[in-house]
Formats: sequence, structure tokens, C-alpha cells
Amino acid sequence: MNDYVGFLGPAYLWVKAGHVTFVIFWMAGLFLLPRFYVYHQETVAGSPEDRAWIEREARVRSIILTPAMLIVWLLGLMLAVHLGAFGQLWFTAKLALVVALTGYQGWLGSYGKKLAAGQRPLSGKAVRLINEIPGIAAALIVVLVIVRPF
Ligand code: HEM
Repeated sequence: MNDYVGFLGPAYLWVKAGHVTFVIFWMAGLFLLPRFYVYHQETVAGSPEDRAWIEREARVRSIILTPAMLIVWLLGLMLAVHLGAFGQLWFTAKLALVVALTGYQGWLGSYGKKLAAGQRPLSGKAVRLINEIPGIAAALIVVLVIVRPF
């Protein structure tokens, strides 16, 4: 079968299954963390609730977001090498969106640090709006990998 030609051989579909599984975990974390921020913002800095949210957010980052993101990247790049996807337009567009999503995660980390320092730079409404970004990016990425419109 043609799918088995690349360097992953018969492991290709297993790697793809792993990739999609960790994409689900990564997205779950990306949806959860800003939702936590919405509730966290409403607490008084230094209060017990504030400290509880800081702890919960640190756990989402270290247990879900960071490991899932690294595994998605690793397995995704293995798939790209297997398929020889570099240079193909659908993959370049996907990569751009995934780089943006990784940057978004970096921004979430820096916003969390500000909340932990007692700052509340954005309104709850703004954080709710920002929370829509990963959903939109995920929908576009799925269309790019499955429909491959270009
Ligand atoms: C982190 C960097 C990523 C890289 C380098 C990457 C790369 C790839 C590659 C090369 C494939 C193989 C496509 C195929 O076998 O036809 C793939 C499959 C897939 N990727 Fe990613 N990906 C990444 C992140 C993501 C993200 C963030 C999502 C969703 C939000 C995603 C969703 C999918 C899905 C649903 C498939 C399966 C498509 C199919 O059934 O053929 N990927 N990815």
C-alpha cells in the first residue's frame, strides 16, 4: 500500500492515530486554560481563591498543555517527513496555523504570569473572545489536512 512507503513504514497509521489523540488533549488544554482565566480574573489578588486558580492553571500547563503540544509537534513532524509534505501548500498553511497556535499558548503562559502577579490586564469579555481563537484555528487545520483544498 502506498501509505507504507515513507520512513515510518507500517507504523504510519499508528503515528497518525497518536498524533490525533494528542491533538485532542492539546486542544482540551487550550480551551480550558482561558476559561480558568475568566474565573480567575474575578477573584481578589492574594485571596485563597486567587491562589487556588494559580495552582490549577499551573497544573493544566505542566500536565496537559506542554506535554501534549510537544508530542503533537513530534508526531506531526514525523508524519510530514513520512509523506514528504514539506513544500506542499496545504502543509505550509497548516504549519503557519500551528505555529500561531503555539504562539497563542506562549501568550497564555505570559497572561497567566500577570494574573499570578495580581494584575488583571484584560476584561473578562476580552478573555472570552480570545478563547474562540483555538476553536477557529482547529477547524481550519482539520479542513487543511482532510480536504486539502490546495
Ligand atoms: C504541531 C504541528 C503539527 C504538524 C507538524 C502536523 C502534521 C501533520 C501531518 C503531516 C499529518 C498527516 C496527514 C496525512 O497523513 O494525510 C497530520 C495529520 C493530522 N493532523 Fe496534524 N500536525 C500538527 C498539528 C496538528 C493540529 C494542531 C491539529 C488540529 C487542531 C492537527 C490535526 C490533524 C488531523 C485531524 C490529522 C489527520 C488527517 C487525516 O486523517 O489524514 N494537527 N498532521
